[in-house]
Amino acid sequence: MIYFDNAATGGFKAAAVLDAAINTLKYLNANPGRSGHRLALAGAKTVIGARMAVQSLFNAEDTDRVIFTKNTTEALNLALIGTAKEGGHIITTVYEHNSVLRTLTHLKERFGVEYTVTDGSAEQIRAAIRENTYLIAVNHVSNVTGREADLSAIGKIAKEKNVLFLTDAAQSAGHADIDVQKTGIDLLCAAGHKGLGGIMGSGVLVFDKKTEVRPVLFGGTGTESINTAQPRFYPERLESGTLNLPAIAALGEAAIYIKPNIRIFGETLYTLTDALIAELKNIRGVKIYSEPNRYGIVSFALDSAPSAAVADVLSSEYDIAVRGGLHCAPLVHKHLGTAESGLVRASFAPQNTLKEVAVFVKAVSRIASAGLY
Ligand code: ALA
Repeated sequence: MIYFDNAATGGFKAAAVLDAAINTLKYLNANPGRSGHRLALAGAKTVIGARMAVQSLFNAEDTDRVIFTKNTTEALNLALIGTAKEGGHIITTVYEHNSVLRTLTHLKERFGVEYTVTDGSAEQIRAAIRENTYLIAVNHVSNVTGREADLSAIGKIAKEKNVLFLTDAAQSAGHADIDVQKTGIDLLCAAGHKGLGGIMGSGVLVFDKKTEVRPVLFGGTGTESINTAQPRFYPERLESGTLNLPAIAALGEAAIYIKPNIRIFGETLYTLTDALIAELKNIRGVKIYSEPNRYGIVSFALDSAPSAAVADVLSSEYDIAVRGGLHCAPLVHKHLGTAESGLVRASFAPQNTLKEVAVFVKAVSRIASAGLY
């Protein structure tokens, strides 16, 4: 199979990452932070090591404010609900995933939080600031087009206006060198299993020392057990219940593995997207919605068929995995005028090759000229 669905979940896992997950399952089946025996302590040490690796990758302020979740969606829910202000105002963008949009809808219905959807530009975001604005939530890289937001400019606005800055880095973590302190990001949400190269079941919320996040999940933490109220200190305050130790161990290794490779991997992804876009431009009936980018995302439409049907045929006839449809991001499709037929999205990992791109181009070319069947 040619796997071009890396924006959904990364198809390549480094040996060290797989070893970390497998060895945890084989040799470290103990509950970290609960019992005090040798194996449980080794598990706790693994979690701390992973927290430190993630902190270092994003240059986060505080190891204890690196919170492990099961995916970016959970991290975003925690960040948005955990900082919600009744009657407050949030600024967001058309590029957001439903993990943000549906959470904002919930906040609106439940807590009367208002939100303004902008085009993602620093100008529109600045213009949307109100007296009751307390948070700006911005997708770093669109999972639909690969468009990158100007985080530094938006971070400056957030700082100047004294509002929190939340970034959804689901599609950029591991591809971009993100320094949360330099960029002024207060809350960063990321997937462990995409660009970072960890396994499914891992995500992370990283936040700074000036930000307080209330828990949305309550329960056992292995600490202060006499107390029926949730502990007040992080990370336990936000990490109730047994952790996904194999996924966290893998994420720690992934963060260590990816750090020295980010620049070169980004260049490879740029080359792959550039090559695909150049070739797609030669196919009649294809409209491209992406620019070359270091996030490995290229989306396009065929005027002859809806995207979901094209993706199905690429899978069934050519054994090529891509994602069609709306990619859980309805507003960007409305913005682009593609809400009806969706887009075909090819998304690369740095381990994909130009040879695979050539095979893909042939398949798209055939579908464009001969139809779906
Ligand atoms: N949000 C992921 C995607 O874009 C799953 O495919």
